[in-house]
Amino acid sequence: MKRYVTILVLVIVSTFVIHAWLVGIGLFPTGASTQSVIIDQLFHVHIWIISFLFSLIMVTLIYSVVIFRRKKGETGEGAHLTGNSTLEIAWTGIPLMAVLVLAFVGATTLGEIRAIDPSALQVRVNAGQWFWQYQYPEYGVTSTELYLPVSKQVNLQMTSVDVIHSFWVPEFRVKQDLVPGQTTELRVTPSLIGVYKVRCAELCGLRHAYMEGLVYVVSQTDFDNWILKQQSAAPPSPELRGQQLASQYGCTNCHSIDGSAMNGPTWLRLAGSNVELTDGSTVVADDDYLRTSIISPNTQVVMGFQANVMPDFSTVLDQTMVESLIAYIKTLK
Ligand code: CUA
Repeated sequence: MKRYVTILVLVIVSTFVIHAWLVGIGLFPTGASTQSVIIDQLFHVHIWIISFLFSLIMVTLIYSVVIFRRKKGETGEGAHLTGNSTLEIAWTGIPLMAVLVLAFVGATTLGEIRAIDPSALQVRVNAGQWFWQYQYPEYGVTSTELYLPVSKQVNLQMTSVDVIHSFWVPEFRVKQDLVPGQTTELRVTPSLIGVYKVRCAELCGLRHAYMEGLVYVVSQTDFDNWILKQQSAAPPSPELRGQQLASQYGCTNCHSIDGSAMNGPTWLRLAGSNVELTDGSTVVADDDYLRTSIISPNTQVVMGFQANVMPDFSTVLDQTMVESLIAYIKTLK
């Protein structure tokens, strides 16, 4: 009996020490959404359980190794034990209850995280290799940086133009995949003004590690001002805008502007040239050809290149963006 009490005391002490250590090393970044509060509460329950189970196993193990080790001169066998129904019922029943309780708490938390606020700000998110794009349909604004007003739920309706990407702002705690051909939803209520980073959390190709973007959580006034600025900003010349778009949307990851060979045809001296297609015909690279190639890339595939490589940009680029890109391509002589 005295041994059990000793082990119990050691387990309790160890649990508190391990827990304090795990909390002390700062496992989590700052929480910056209302969802992060309940998610962190759930994590802290798990940290207590982890600390206890680790202590229970390690204390019992080390205690047994030290106390029951073979003493000098001992040669006999240890006691042979078989069957202990009480113990077997306990080690089946207790974990079963633990799993059921955690499942219930987990499901309740998930319900709270996904709670719908009907007045949520609507944002469409498009991702591709390798960019993030945000459209604010209520305001007619498109941006490659995400601006969010603090303390207001945002409903992110997300899709991908090519492969699976994943939207993850660690400070918000929530994470959701963007799947080509599907629209997924993520709701989050930012609670702390600041600048954060969205990171892609799904391996999506060579530049996956660099698929980051800035997320600004600002006051409602600053958000309104930002929207106004976007709506009234004087547009740069189409050629300049096209150049910016080409790098923002990853065009130049596949189309060189210096004539070098990449996954897609080079843009150098493309406009106005004769282009040979995979079906054997030859077309002139006029505006119509360039437009079709951007929004419906599999219609006319250039000889020496493959179909279904370039993503469909028709939902990402609006008409003026496409015209700007064409204007830019025409400057590459
Ligand atoms: Cu997109 Cu990883």
